[in-house]
Amino acid sequence: MSLLEADQLFKVFGRRPEQAVERLRSGATRDELREDGSTAAVVDACFEVGEGEIFVIMGLSGSGKSTLLRMLNGLSRPTAGRVLFDGQELTALPPKELRTVRSHRISMVFQHFALFPHRSVLENAGYGLEQQGVSREEQDRRATEALDLVGLSQWKDSWPDELSGGMQQRVGLARALATDADLLLMDESFSALDPLIRREMQEQLLQLQQQLRKSIVFITHDLNEAMRLGDRIAVMRDGRIVQQGTPAEIVLSPADDYVAAFVEDVDRDRVLGRSAVRPAGEVPSPPQRDGTSERKAVNRG
Ligand SMILES: Nc1ncnc2c1ncn2[C@@H]1O[C@H](COP(=O)(O)OP(=O)(O)O)[C@@H](O)[C@H]1O
Ligand SMILES: [Mg+2]
Repeated sequence: MSLLEADQLFKVFGRRPEQAVERLRSGATRDELREDGSTAAVVDACFEVGEGEIFVIMGLSGSGKSTLLRMLNGLSRPTAGRVLFDGQELTALPPKELRTVRSHRISMVFQHFALFPHRSVLENAGYGLEQQGVSREEQDRRATEALDLVGLSQWKDSWPDELSGGMQQRVGLARALATDADLLLMDESFSALDPLIRREMQEQLLQLQQQLRKSIVFITHDLNEAMRLGDRIAVMRDGRIVQQGTPAEIVLSPADDYVAAFVEDVDRDRVLGRSAVRPAGEVPSPPQRDGTSERKAVNRG
């Protein structure tokens, strides 16, 4: 069963947004709307995220990823369409109930995690629980558990500025995990980290996921990160999802030239699971351009 469903979501900023949606439905382009002073940030987004699945939304800067994510937790109201969360129509909930769902069941991890400088690491990790009105004792217990999960329990009495950037980002992740939310929304959460640390965080997220089986929507502009983390990936371009599928489907059967150009430089062997047998340090073979034989095996559409 899917935990989250986006059903024909639109978000238009600017003048007469509802009218703009009508025009988009009848084929108007983003550029045409821009001439009239409207920005079509998200156009007709449809997807489902299953329980325990990492769903990656990948696209260049400005393609609408953050706007889409903000609609998924009700921070931003869609111009049209619905968000269904665990069978409930999130977009139809009264503000108070929406706040409850948002603070208890959905957690967000941002790119630049704003830790409170005058609170300890433990207090920072427990912040989401404090917002839920959980007792201090339970806050500390659950925050300690979450810090343990991300490998930071020995730092719990430290101040944020004693931690490296990667560790601070881990505290952000711990804060989200401590709330025991069913759905984690991660917006470019690792993008500000150095490449090496970033790889470590990706590995750690995958390891945690084996244990926790959360539903995760992970946003990135980095195709390699998308391929590494995603059970399925949605590729966005100019507000539209141009393709969704498993990493292998996207590499082997790109839906159009745009996606094809994107995946050109990807290490196909790794995506297709052939790198596991390669001894560490061995030079990877060049990417295979002709995927015809594999392509047949892929279920299109
Ligand atoms: N509050 C807003 N008002 C007007 N335009 C916005 C607003 N938020 C985002 N946009 C526009 O919507 C488009 C998508 O932005 P965004 O969702 O931030 O993309 P991404 O996260 O993929 O970089 C951009 O053209 C951006 O300028
Ligand atoms: Mg963004």
